Amino acid sequence: MFKVSNLNEEHLKESYEIEKLTNPTPWTYTNFKSSFEVGHFGLICTHKNEIAGFAIYSPIKPEAHLLNIAVTQKFQKKGAGSILLNTIINQCKVMGIKNIYLEVRISNAKAILFYEKFGFKKDAVRENYYTGEQKEDALLMSKTLA
Ligand SMILES: CC(C)(COP(=O)(O)OP(=O)(O)OC[C@H]1O[C@@H](n2cnc3c(N)ncnc32)[C@H](O)[C@@H]1OP(=O)(O)O)[C@@H](O)C(=O)NCCC(=O)NCCS
Repeated sequence: MFKVSNLNEEHLKESYEIEKLTNPTPWTYTNFKSSFEVGHFGLICTHKNEIAGFAIYSPIKPEAHLLNIAVTQKFQKKGAGSILLNTIINQCKVMGIKNIYLEVRISNAKAILFYEKFGFKKDAVRENYYTGEQKEDALLMSKTLA
């Protein structure tokens, strides 16, 4: 059903549209553009010609940081996020990455369950990590790659 490919410049706008609908404090379009320009790794997951979701990460050996992942509402809970995260994990293994780190809003139960399904462990809580209108603590999670 889904296909994963690299996130190119022409996908930035659509990814940003998904971000606005799925993240309470979304990245700005400028954040997407800068992330792309500095060379973060990006993936999109498509269904036919439609982008179902995207993921962006930064691999700096021996670590990688998952910076953003989102699946648009209508495609959630259908395996798109899993395909994206699996691809990241596999790419990281090939690159010799040893640990993947991420932060997630402490109230984002479905994302926490999602990460736990992939073997991410809860490491710590960073208080007031998310600022702005929806202030919140972050849960720091990580996965060690075999
Ligand atoms: C988190 C997110 C990326 C998961 O993507 P998805 O495509 O819906 O996830 P999948 O269908 O691949 O689900 C994989 C597993 O995650 C967990 N999961 C996903 N959605 C869930 C939900 N609504 N409730 C409980 N568990 C859930 C389950 O363990 C699921 O496995 P299962 O289907 O065997 O039960 C998606 O919900 C999303 O985009 N959320 C909004 C943005 C966001 O919160 N991003 C993370 C920021 S840190």
